[in-house]
Amino acid sequence: MPEKILVFTAWPYCNGELHIGHIAGAYLPPDIFARYHRLRGNDVLMLSGSDTHGTPITVRAEEDGISPREVVDRYHPRIVNMYQRLGITYDLYTETDTENHWAVTQDMFKTHLANGYIYLDSMQQLYCVDCAKWLADRYVEGTCPYCRSEGARGDQCDNCGRTYEAITLIRPRCKHCGGMHIEIRTTEHFFLDLGKLNEPLLAWINDGKKEHWRPNVINQTRARLESRELRGRPITRDILWGVTIPVPGFEDKRIYVWYDAVIGYLSATKEWAALQGNPDAWRSWWTDPACRAYYFIGKDNIEFHAIIWPGMLIGYGQGLNLPYDVPSNEYLNVEGRKLSKSRRWMIQMSEVLNRYDPDPWRYAIAANFPETQDVNFTWEDFLRRNNDELVATWGNLANRVLGFAFKRFDATVPQPGPFDEADQALLAQIGPTFERVTALLEAVKLKQALEITMSLAHEANRYLNLKEPWKQIKTDPTAAATSVFVALRVIDTLKTLFTPFLPFTCQQLHHYLGYEGALFGQSYTEVLHETTRAHLALRYDPTGATGRWEISELAPGQKLREPAPLFRKLDESIVDAEIERMMRGA
Ligand code: MF3
Ligand code: ZN
Repeated sequence: MPEKILVFTAWPYCNGELHIGHIAGAYLPPDIFARYHRLRGNDVLMLSGSDTHGTPITVRAEEDGISPREVVDRYHPRIVNMYQRLGITYDLYTETDTENHWAVTQDMFKTHLANGYIYLDSMQQLYCVDCAKWLADRYVEGTCPYCRSEGARGDQCDNCGRTYEAITLIRPRCKHCGGMHIEIRTTEHFFLDLGKLNEPLLAWINDGKKEHWRPNVINQTRARLESRELRGRPITRDILWGVTIPVPGFEDKRIYVWYDAVIGYLSATKEWAALQGNPDAWRSWWTDPACRAYYFIGKDNIEFHAIIWPGMLIGYGQGLNLPYDVPSNEYLNVEGRKLSKSRRWMIQMSEVLNRYDPDPWRYAIAANFPETQDVNFTWEDFLRRNNDELVATWGNLANRVLGFAFKRFDATVPQPGPFDEADQALLAQIGPTFERVTALLEAVKLKQALEITMSLAHEANRYLNLKEPWKQIKTDPTAAATSVFVALRVIDTLKTLFTPFLPFTCQQLHHYLGYEGALFGQSYTEVLHETTRAHLALRYDPTGATGRWEISELAPGQKLREPAPLFRKLDESIVDAEIERMMRGA
């Protein structure tokens, strides 16, 4: 029975391009996980989209001198294009400025209101007297009330990650005019009654079914819920960009971006279902208790996915599934510094894909996944991962065995003779490695799964260096045939284990090994006219995928194809050149 696996990724703000920290934190892990489950034959839906609302977008619009909608039209296609080049295979990557998303958001808002989980109240907000403007979220900066770091935004501190109300900021400054002529004024807003949801959420988090959660996620969430400090939170804002409030009299306000963005998980599933021509198809994904929903996010988003969104689902009262897991990642720093656009310390993903192939990036980032702590990525490490691990260990293993079999065994998998101790020892490692990697992928321990896979490639190289089939063939052709056969079996299994991580080169290798067809389906972009705001979507079509999560049964006699190197050696000079480029802020 195939399992149903929902793979959700955080919705990135569509106000710029994504950097390798974003990719490491929230976009590559889910793709590896989704590909693994597709290979297992499970039903997978990987969904997300661009977060198009809120002050991150309006601030960018002012900076670029264009409208917020033009910001979306500028950056959303760039994000989609980068995903495609990196091989991030969303079943649907949409955006939040669509009629469908607005309708689903407004329906949830009205339902929360009717169910008593949203109430109207007045609150205090910062107001810039000189600009005559309300200072929502990113329009104000100041000193963080918790960690006292400078330049903290109005809703969240980049340094300590805490969220708060802007009025608690110390020494607030208006971002429009830079001035400090700021007053606290009273305004009316809708609030999500999180206080009412504290006990139900605590019961859920303590239901005994969270053992698989990462320690930092469960600890942070449980501590927050056990403090019983959840209180109502304003979910509307005094701005004019965002989903309109479905209540008369609030035309000059909008729904807060965070309330609508998380609803994207539901609305994207509905949009996907409609695109399949089966508008009800979303339902089983959200109500079948056996369907597991994974939310891949960065650590600054834990509260929204482990408390607020589950709370919103409980308050919605339609029996929809709560998250099965929230695999959150820490940060990826580069050369000891935090990636930051404003501090001009950046490795933009789309940009480095102009100079390097996608699989080496997928590999180097996965080998550095910040699954349990912040990780320091360096260009030296990128070079070593590529040259020592991909080229010298894995690529060289595949190439020398395939090349040798192609030339000396008539481009055919040879018939082995009897296995000696070394043959048996290597063959005996395949099963346990396969099981271990499978268990690690199931548990979303992706970095370790990759390490174990690479260590089997090391073993296979040691085996070849011991056997030296290119020498054996002169004295004992049957022994050479046996070595090549054993090595090919290991290589073919390694291909499967590497496939979720290295889909492009594993597809190439699959072809060299003589197989037909594509391991995965096809990614493509589509302009969707089903809404008035025609938008670009990234889609995945599983048709024709032949990849299987199985130990190799490569048979003697299978025809091979002429191999070419899977990876290119990089020159040592790229390290200094790339660091220098970063220092220039290029
Ligand atoms: N746009 C938010 C960010 O980049 C993340 C939103 S995740 C969502 O931090 F699920 F709420 F959309
Ligand atoms: Zn101002």
